[in-house]
Amino acid sequence: MTTARKISVAALTLGLVAGLAACAPAGSSGGGSDGDAAGADCNVGISMPTRSLERWINDGEGLKEKLEGDDCTVDLQYADNKTDQQISQIQNQVAGGAKILVVAAIDGQTLGPVLEDAASQDVTVIAYDRLINGTEAVDYYATFDNYKVGQLQGEYIEEQLGLADGEKGPFTLEPFAGSPDDNNAGFFFAGAWDVLQPYVESGVLTVPSGKAPADDDGWKAIGILGWGSDDAQAEMDNRLQSFYTGGDTVDVVLSPNDSLALGIEASLDAAGYQAGTDWPIITGQDADVANVKAILADQQSMTVWKDTRELGTQVEAMITAIVAGDEPETNDTDTYDNGVKVVPAYLLDPVVVTKDDVQGTLVDSGFVDASDVGL
Ligand code: BGC
Repeated sequence: MTTARKISVAALTLGLVAGLAACAPAGSSGGGSDGDAAGADCNVGISMPTRSLERWINDGEGLKEKLEGDDCTVDLQYADNKTDQQISQIQNQVAGGAKILVVAAIDGQTLGPVLEDAASQDVTVIAYDRLINGTEAVDYYATFDNYKVGQLQGEYIEEQLGLADGEKGPFTLEPFAGSPDDNNAGFFFAGAWDVLQPYVESGVLTVPSGKAPADDDGWKAIGILGWGSDDAQAEMDNRLQSFYTGGDTVDVVLSPNDSLALGIEASLDAAGYQAGTDWPIITGQDADVANVKAILADQQSMTVWKDTRELGTQVEAMITAIVAGDEPETNDTDTYDNGVKVVPAYLLDPVVVTKDDVQGTLVDSGFVDASDVGL
């Protein structure tokens, strides 16, 4: 980074290297919250969960490119959705000299020890998209408003069925939730369920499978571990075969994201549902290419789009501040309590995309190539 480089050149010239090193900010205490202009080296380890989902590939590569444009040294690793692999990759990044870690955790509970070890070596930790729980060693959190993602899904269903206008149905609903080890998944479900639950209680929405959570933690029992499309498909097959016999059909599926929605859609297709006739309302999140195609083919009703390029820009700004020895900007210091501390967060706004918005929102902004989705 330019500022940091200028500082280190000046430091060398003045022979103050030792002095600056001594007052470099400790990562775990806020990476320069004391306004110390010495800052950290722009040597960044990015740890992403998996290459199997399009969004993480875009997130990781997009952020790496931005940071390299700022002359940072960047090591980007994907952990194949395996926590042990993520831990050893982070260890290697720190051993290799990373001074800032950007981590999208596979399991929000298990990274404490490796990050505490990193913090003891003055590494600053930014939780990326997913909060890291149960440790002091997370300095900042950059994400989209996760509760709002679910709320937008719930409100979309409410509006499509005319529930707020008094439609009485009853409509059949199958709720799905995300991976129980992902801190985001609880926020997504809570956002949607706070909208839908009153209609379940009044009987306007019925849940034939019985998979409606009874309490705040109940979503975990219907969570699809690892967010796999195949597992969502198997679960939907099971629900359709067990609870939709004798001509009953499903009207709505609450899917927290696109990877689950894809599996659910494959299951509906195999069960003989027809797009444009009895195909249910299905929600999603991420605007993955396969799902944008499904939206255009009337096999998915909406997706909640999170412009991951914006998230990258926000993290880049955080890193610029840390390197300059400044306090990164955050806009939420209440919501994300990781059990040990409330992690200062920057929340971005998610956006609903339906068939009508694909061109104007996704294609025109360059997030999706028209040719990739057959436009
Ligand atoms: C992310 C979602 C993503 C899901 C599965 C969540 O933590 O916020 O965007 O769909 O993980 O990878």
